Amino acid sequence: MRLRFSASQMSLIALLMMAPAFGRALDNGLARTPPMGWNSWNKFACKGINEKVVRETADAMASNGMKDAGYQFVVIDDCWQTGRDAAGNIVADPERFPSGIKALADYIHGKGLKFGIYTDAGTMTCAKRMGSIGHEYQDAKQYANWGVDYLKEDWCNTLPGQNSESSYTLMRNALAESGRPIVFSICEWGSTKPWLWAGPIGNLWRSTGDIQDCWDCKKDWGGNGVVQILDLMNGLESYAGPGHWNDPDMLEVGNGGMTKEEYRAHFSMWAMFSAPLLAGNDISNMTADTKEILLNKDVIAIDQDPLGRQGHRVKKTGDLEVWSKQLQDGGRAVALLNRGPAAATISVAWTDIGYPDAISASVRDLWTKKESSAVKGNYSVDVPSHGVVMIRVKP
Ligand code: GLA
Repeated sequence: MRLRFSASQMSLIALLMMAPAFGRALDNGLARTPPMGWNSWNKFACKGINEKVVRETADAMASNGMKDAGYQFVVIDDCWQTGRDAAGNIVADPERFPSGIKALADYIHGKGLKFGIYTDAGTMTCAKRMGSIGHEYQDAKQYANWGVDYLKEDWCNTLPGQNSESSYTLMRNALAESGRPIVFSICEWGSTKPWLWAGPIGNLWRSTGDIQDCWDCKKDWGGNGVVQILDLMNGLESYAGPGHWNDPDMLEVGNGGMTKEEYRAHFSMWAMFSAPLLAGNDISNMTADTKEILLNKDVIAIDQDPLGRQGHRVKKTGDLEVWSKQLQDGGRAVALLNRGPAAATISVAWTDIGYPDAISASVRDLWTKKESSAVKGNYSVDVPSHGVVMIRVKP
């Protein structure tokens, strides 16, 4: 039988055949909502990391309300490893981790939490510890034997011409063979546009360079403040979804470089992005303000909304911005963001967020908890400098 296709059917078929990674996601069943937890790097970096810190972090997460709020992964970043033994097995630093990684994983699992670790796709990590190149299958097996649930793979000290997509595919395949479900976090800082290829390879991919603990700053080597990251994230919303997320980097909330308003805005915007929420502070020693931010369940619910839509900017008037994120219940999360030096009034019209002007909606302020009902046409509010008002709108 000869099949006949119309011109429009032919162009649809051609489009489907050309479709690259877009829309496809890694089918390991993990990270259906953005991962939540803690990562050691932003606060403890290389010098400060050891098993005592990791155990204290797990104790804190299990008892300070974070676990109940959804935080789950305890992730050790760079500097846990030294070299390889004669058989090529990766070896943990015996001074910092005298009990070994397996014992630490068991401890974390004993608290009802999950355990994550870090490696690098090149010869050495960014802090010049042993990388995974050439040992991907052996390392993945080792992680699985230790009880690792989450792997972050960095991109320092790669070989000249090393290809990011094939390198991360290799580790994805190694993890799939390891016999243990392991969330895979790609970290090449957005340098080869991972949103275009990483969907079927990783559960999350860093979309931007390293976050800095500042509101507005840019480092020559690629470090970014919060507002720089916001601008880089806008436009990437179509690439994220359940199981495959853009990752604007770990949180800086509580590390001391920003004001309370700025940290609130930082946390709110990460929720608008459906970003992984990995606390990057010392969670065993937090101020009440830091705790209040990290534990805001209304904001966390926006991040974890099962529809998995990343929010985007719908209006910009100078320093005043409106961002919107579609939610599973048909509602919207809206962030009214003031990047400027003085308080200002910001308005969102229902037509800015995809509703007809005539609808009447309930509005909940996710920080003050104020509720307004039957709001018609638009919502206006005063927003402090470097601050955000975040609302949930439900027609
Ligand atoms: C890179 C990564 C960071 C952190 C450090 C560790 O800079 O982007 O998130 O993992 O390496 O050395």
